[in-house]
Amino acid sequence: LALGVAREAGDLLVRGRAGQVAAESTKSSPTDVVTALDRASEELVGRRLREARPGDGILGEEGADDAGTSGVRWIVDPLDGTVNFLYNLPNWAVSIAAEIDGQVVAGVVHAPAMGATYTAALGDGSARNGVALAGSAVTDLSGALVATGFGYTVERRIAQVAVLTRVVPRVRDIRRMGAASLDLCAAAAGLVDAYYERGLHPWDHAAGALVAAEAGLRVGGLHGRPLSNDLVIAAPQALFGQLHDLLAADPPADRE
Ligand code: IPD
Repeated sequence: LALGVAREAGDLLVRGRAGQVAAESTKSSPTDVVTALDRASEELVGRRLREARPGDGILGEEGADDAGTSGVRWIVDPLDGTVNFLYNLPNWAVSIAAEIDGQVVAGVVHAPAMGATYTAALGDGSARNGVALAGSAVTDLSGALVATGFGYTVERRIAQVAVLTRVVPRVRDIRRMGAASLDLCAAAAGLVDAYYERGLHPWDHAAGALVAAEAGLRVGGLHGRPLSNDLVIAAPQALFGQLHDLLAADPPADRE
């Protein structure tokens, strides 16, 4: 269901992208834009999921928040990478995850402009376009290409740049590609060696974190805690501790 709905929303966005795309309004800051197509995509995804499974809950980036009655909740980013979409850069995706009693059990990250569709089911592995994923074999952080991202508020960005000054000298290089769901999938696919970011919302990471975990990556937060708004790290087992310790060394001022 997630795959079919993500493809339908992806088609809507591809058609919309062929026309005029403009930032319609802003959310948390002037750089946090939303287009009419973000909303149209969420409306379509919500409608399709409700038609198929009327008792389920839905949490969506553009406002859907319904607990449902079935124990199943869908977590939807109808357009992750909105700024890329606005600039016609290909790194954007529709991200749909299903959780049962709070545990994500299925995830799809569909990126039509990249020709990539990532899928995962709990205990069943993850794949890109049907080909199984296994992450990177790099074992030393100094040789790791690390993806990250920045939030939209000035305060968050100042803190994130402070963290970056500690990370950049210790890694091969940094990538900021602009869609958290796809960053997690890139780590799952070994297109980057690891990924971390502060300040993500459930819709940013729900599907991509399952794709990464099912590719064998360790996905978590600080000090053994699960991933959260505070921090998401996705890395092969051999890199996780090294990256974690580097990030954990930051003073509390680096976190909001
Ligand atoms: C954003 C992207 C970005 C990440 C931000 C997210 P949006 O989502 O995933 O890569 O750094 O934290 O908010 O606004 O494009 O859906």
